[in-house]
Amino acid sequence: MVYRVIYISSSRRVQSNAEIDVILRKSQENNHRAGLTGLLIYDGKRFFQYLEGEEAQVRRTLARIRADERHYALVVLSEKETDRRQFGQWSMAGHYMSPGENLEQCVERLTTGCDPHVAAELRGFATVRTHAA
Ligand SMILES: Cc1cc2nc3c(=O)[nH]c(=O)nc-3n(C[C@H](O)[C@H](O)[C@H](O)COP(=O)(O)O)c2cc1C
Repeated sequence: MVYRVIYISSSRRVQSNAEIDVILRKSQENNHRAGLTGLLIYDGKRFFQYLEGEEAQVRRTLARIRADERHYALVVLSEKETDRRQFGQWSMAGHYMSPGENLEQCVERLTTGCDPHVAAELRGFATVRTHAA
């Protein structure tokens, strides 16, 4: 089984691409070691992350992420066991929003390879966030 967590959080301040790259590089290095994979989207205001792998590793990493002062108000949207990975080829795929794109559109674009029900679930969360913005 694969354990997966989806959360959103608010960035403490606007992060430059270089700052996001620092987060991504560190995440990729640690996640590779811990056998974790996933997706991280930053929309200029919030982070949206999908993190999957062995349960204990996911929990350990999430505890570190929660304590990170670069963001706050981390809300877990979904946390459960699933039968397979959705982002197996990425230790942490990072994506910049295209100009004019919102979170909903970005998630739609990035989840085309996922199981349809997972893609729909992620789009649903992103839709709620986009309209709450
Ligand atoms: C939005 C966000 C997402 C992050 N995602 C991950 C992640 O997937 N894996 C990870 O190891 N660290 C992630 N981090 C970084 C951790 O909070 C923490 O800084 C890092 O894991 C510490 O690693 P170190 O103990 O090797 O220095 C993330 C940080 C932020 C702000």
